[in-house]
Amino acid sequence: MKALILVGGFGTRLRPLTLSVPKPLVDFANKPMILHQIEALKAIGVSEVVLAINYQPEVMLNFLKEFETKIGIKITCSQETEPLGTAGPLALARDKLIDESGEPFFVLNSDVISEYPLKEMIQFHKSHGGEASIMVTKVDEPSKYGVVVLEESTGQVERFVEKPKLFVGNKINAGIYLLDPSVLDRIELRPTSIEKEVFPKIALEKKLYAMVLPGFWMDIGQPKDYIIGLRLYLDSLRKRTSSKLASGTHIVGNVLVDETATIGEGCLIGPDVAIGPGCIVESGVRLSRCTVMRGVRIKKHACISSSIIGWHSTVGQWARVENMTILGEDVHVCDEIYSNGGVVLPHKEIKSSILKPEIVM
Ligand code: GDD
Ligand code: MG
Repeated sequence: MKALILVGGFGTRLRPLTLSVPKPLVDFANKPMILHQIEALKAIGVSEVVLAINYQPEVMLNFLKEFETKIGIKITCSQETEPLGTAGPLALARDKLIDESGEPFFVLNSDVISEYPLKEMIQFHKSHGGEASIMVTKVDEPSKYGVVVLEESTGQVERFVEKPKLFVGNKINAGIYLLDPSVLDRIELRPTSIEKEVFPKIALEKKLYAMVLPGFWMDIGQPKDYIIGLRLYLDSLRKRTSSKLASGTHIVGNVLVDETATIGEGCLIGPDVAIGPGCIVESGVRLSRCTVMRGVRIKKHACISSSIIGWHSTVGQWARVENMTILGEDVHVCDEIYSNGGVVLPHKEIKSSILKPEIVM
């Protein structure tokens, strides 16, 4: 079986992290977002993943080469010379997706996180006899997504409305599809949107089916949702493989600590924290609801909450970092500094406090 992951787009909503790497390579729960998906695809027997990409393909491929052998899956690139949207890339990769087996293939948005119930999806696809299956999930703010109206008992999709201005329903497209090869005959090689141009037509012909995704789901393409997504992910990890979570008197709730990270005396960590490889957390540090990426150093008595600390940054002693502060790669926050929602571009030194949410260039 094959799969295509849509990895284009500039990831502007996740800046400054995406100033250092393409969005799919931004770490989430201690590994690049895209690895969560590739591992899930491998687990259900996908043999080849095609990355549909429109910029920096070398960065992605160089990085993923190492994982091809580690995970044991073929990873190839299909590169656009202009952004082809969410459907055009499928037409471009047509030859890679179709083989003699005539099997359906998966298509995934690169910024969604869930338990990836892909096996269940294959069963569902086989059971309904339509041309395409999509996963849907319930959200509070449907207008940010593609809204799907379905016939509850069969899952047949009646309407698909991308980013509706008026309320149509609260079940939304989760960005995980299983498509018959015939869907490719509906897509032209030009910039085009699968949500606006392809799905509504298949729905009209009553050949589009939706399955309600079991478990959690989040689009982690924006900082606020990324932080919520980590909470949901760790909750689910607790239920599935709680042994992967940290334990001890200094841990509160769900905390993921890479085995190469070190944590000093008298810290209080959690809930909902991920500490990446090689991080050094000195003594007396307080961390909650935050992500600390590879190679970060948090000095004594610093306090970080609801924030993302980018790769190889340093937070000085007695510093207080909170309220959606996002530090890009290699940022240095000096001792005793306060950051209230600062969004700091890579390679900066922060010598004075950031008192209200703002971008620091
Ligand atoms: N190759 C390629 N080329 N990929 C692209 C392009 C492009 O021109 N444009 C966007 N993508 C990729 C993005 O990287 C992402 O993985 C996916 O397509 C969806 O794009 P987003 O920019 O993240 O869209 P969205 O979050 O506003 O909405 C989409 O996702 C929602 C769920 O998170 C839609 O599919 C909605 O219907 C859906 O509800
Ligand atoms: Mg998105």
